[in-house]
Amino acid sequence: MEQIRKKACVIGGSGFMASLLIEKLLEKGYAVNTTVRDPGNPSKMCHLFALKSLGQLKIFGADLTVEEDFDAPISGCELVFLLASPVNFASEDPENDMIKPAIKGVLNVLKACTRAKEVKRVILTSSTTAVTINQLNGTGHVMDESNWTDVEYLNTAKPCGWGYHASKTLAEKAAWKFSEENNIDLISMIPSLTTGPSIIRDIPASVALATSIITGNDFFLKSLRDMQLLSGSISVTHVEDICRAHIFVAEKESASGRYIVSAHNTSVPELAKFLSKRYPHYNIPTEFDDIPSEAKLVISSEKLIKEGFSFQYGMEEIFDQSVGYLSSVGALVKN
Ligand SMILES: NC(=O)c1ccc[n+]([C@@H]2O[C@H](COP(=O)([O-])OP(=O)(O)OC[C@H]3O[C@@H](n4cnc5c(N)ncnc54)[C@H](OP(=O)(O)O)[C@@H]3O)[C@@H](O)[C@H]2O)c1
Repeated sequence: MEQIRKKACVIGGSGFMASLLIEKLLEKGYAVNTTVRDPGNPSKMCHLFALKSLGQLKIFGADLTVEEDFDAPISGCELVFLLASPVNFASEDPENDMIKPAIKGVLNVLKACTRAKEVKRVILTSSTTAVTINQLNGTGHVMDESNWTDVEYLNTAKPCGWGYHASKTLAEKAAWKFSEENNIDLISMIPSLTTGPSIIRDIPASVALATSIITGNDFFLKSLRDMQLLSGSISVTHVEDICRAHIFVAEKESASGRYIVSAHNTSVPELAKFLSKRYPHYNIPTEFDDIPSEAKLVISSEKLIKEGFSFQYGMEEIFDQSVGYLSSVGALVKN
């Protein structure tokens, strides 16, 4: 007789984190339904076809903006992980390209969860960008789950990338409101900048961003500077820890509310010094006079750690494995 497996739905299976989360869930014996926006695009699907060898994986087409797309993939699932989110930093219309579809997507998935009787818990992937953007001065401010990004400031000042930051904050807030009104057991995961090896075809944008001091990519290096100037720190986490933390809170009965998941807090100048010392064979700049050497904020994962989670990867492993991954796909060559 076939063993009855717990079933989980992962929304956004073409993504960096979601693909590794699916791998981990299958390895743990879960049956997994996943959704992709464009199932006709083989380049977004090949890693999922490979993952089918690990267990029971079903793939569905679903767009965040289409409510009825989510009934079939969520049906029969106890856990729903919502990772998909519109990301378009080049957008000239962030309101319509990111903010509205992010909020609509969260509500569409949650509405489908209320119709599917088996769903026990929904895990929404938010971001530290929904926590850290504020107008505080000074250094050493500790940010925890009680902090929210100042959306009014984003809407008024419109700093670089404001649409994405506003979309993550407003989508998470909408999710909390809907879940409270509809009695859904929601948990929000709040990852910092995530890097490490990937199984999807293209190099994930967040890996390119986190490693930009090493690769020297102008676009991502500028974005990394902007990130510190706007959000107050460069905080990084290994993708494996992000996926482990998602499964940890999903399975932990006592877990509730928001959870920051962030392994290490630093600044661009500090990170550059660390990387230059660790990888002397790459041409790594260490002069960043235009950026504060000390982070303005410290992002705290204390709540998650108190719940019983432990991070497996520190700075050395995070960057050794990111460098190893980039080298293995031919994206990094030694000088
Ligand atoms: N990576 C990080 O450093 C980081 C840090 C904090 C939080 N997060 C959050 O964590 C989650 C996963 O991040 P990631 O880096 O793994 O993301 P990613 O690789 O950029 O994946 C984003 C996913 O969202 C999907 N998506 C976008 N718009 C959609 C739509 N209208 N309908 C259906 N799917 C749509 C994309 O599908 P397509 O492939 O079809 O475009 C893709 O699968 C996101 O919510 C992100 O905001 C990421």
